[in-house]
Amino acid sequence: MMNPTPAFDMLLFGGTGDLVMRKLLPALFGAHAAGLLHPLGRIYALGRQPLSRDDYLALASRDARAHCDGADDARWAAFCARIDYLQVDATRAADFAALAERLSGDDGRVRVVYLATAPGLFVPICEHLAAAGLADARTRLVLEKPLGHDLASADAINDAVSRHFAEDQLYRIDHYLGKESVQNLLALRFGNTLFEPLWRREWVESVQITLAEEIGVAGRGEFYERTGALRDMVQNHLLQLLCIVAMEPPASLDADAVRDEKLKVLKALAPFDAASVARDTVRGQYQAGASGGVAVEGYRAEEGVAADSRTETYVALKTSIGNWRWAGVPFYLRTGKRLARRQAEIVITFRDVPHKLFDVPPMCRNANRLVIELQPEESIRLWFRAKTPGDGMDLQPVSLNLDFHETFRVRRVDAYERLLLDVIRGRLALFMRRDEQAAAWRWVEPLLAAWAADTAGPRPYMAGSWGPAAASTLIARDGLSWPEEC
Ligand code: BG6
Repeated sequence: MMNPTPAFDMLLFGGTGDLVMRKLLPALFGAHAAGLLHPLGRIYALGRQPLSRDDYLALASRDARAHCDGADDARWAAFCARIDYLQVDATRAADFAALAERLSGDDGRVRVVYLATAPGLFVPICEHLAAAGLADARTRLVLEKPLGHDLASADAINDAVSRHFAEDQLYRIDHYLGKESVQNLLALRFGNTLFEPLWRREWVESVQITLAEEIGVAGRGEFYERTGALRDMVQNHLLQLLCIVAMEPPASLDADAVRDEKLKVLKALAPFDAASVARDTVRGQYQAGASGGVAVEGYRAEEGVAADSRTETYVALKTSIGNWRWAGVPFYLRTGKRLARRQAEIVITFRDVPHKLFDVPPMCRNANRLVIELQPEESIRLWFRAKTPGDGMDLQPVSLNLDFHETFRVRRVDAYERLLLDVIRGRLALFMRRDEQAAAWRWVEPLLAAWAADTAGPRPYMAGSWGPAAASTLIARDGLSWPEEC
């Protein structure tokens, strides 16, 4: 059982927005209900709308409570006692002065400022915070992704923010790093001797990372038009997972020890050029189809999306890591919206035996696989060949399964809850450092440029399918297949 946090003020910019309602308040509620928040921990929701505290609590009751597990009346009321609402327009200095006034007298508390707004507001908010005296050493700033839309815009934001905050006050969030199963991957790799000797080019044939979503753009069409799957999922979530899979063992779990190793992976990724973009990447856009048995419209018919949009809702790509451990091992990454089902997993396929003693059916090829499922369930499955009972010597694939929920039977801690607790406690290991984020932008930029110049646009795929057929061809070229095709 963890100790409660120190006393804190949590300032949520974008306080009436979707992220606060669907993720941040529920995460804070989870921590509150588990007794992990200091009794003096206070939450200030900040937004442009002129709402009273009661209005805001009514809104939170309508939009956030349904996402809070176990929010009975008594618990919800106790949680609401921590919450206040203030009208703050990100461009109005006077509002920040009033905010500072409201917070005064709270010396010694940790101050967390969470920017759950459009990135265009990050800089004015930081400047106003500084002018109001709210950017002192006890302030920690949480920056939501995507930070900018390319390296130059990310640099501009980082430069402006760094004028007021030191790097160790900046918490660049990627909620995938807060997922239990990602932490477990670290435990699996570096808390055991079993896999580490095999975790290299001599024994690993390929690595596949899939983040498939069943949902479409879910009312965020306008945001998605500006962003696309490469910026929304690949530049951050997929690359962070790849780093955790591929990094060298850090000397300690110190933030910089871990982040140094992740940075080395990002720097060793093979850079794309026009030829490899054409050969090794596939982008797609969903068309009308069916999701969960219900007819759904195509991306271009979503609200806020242009009728001739060329924004990608799907990306599959092949890359490699140019270092001693991974040279020559293909890494396949893919993500998409409106795919057949919600499925996030990492598949490590080990090389086949060097000399075949047994006749194995084709389905038995690459039988040694480690499948780390991140979503919807959190599990680890190790596949290998075993003899089919009875006469003869037929082999078939079998697996050892570890379902974390079944095994531990404890409350599931949401990624945002873990990360918010880390911010309040001042733990930076699960947040991205500026140089990591810059390296990730540097790697995706040639892709962005090539796609912007390519008149062909994304390939259509039917909602409810597994994406464009070209993605199967991409991997089949190497004699491999995606997990659902095995
Ligand atoms: C967010 C993206 O970062 O991650 C969304 O902006 C995406 O588009 C979401 O749906 C997926 O997160 P999760 O935790 O539901 O897999």
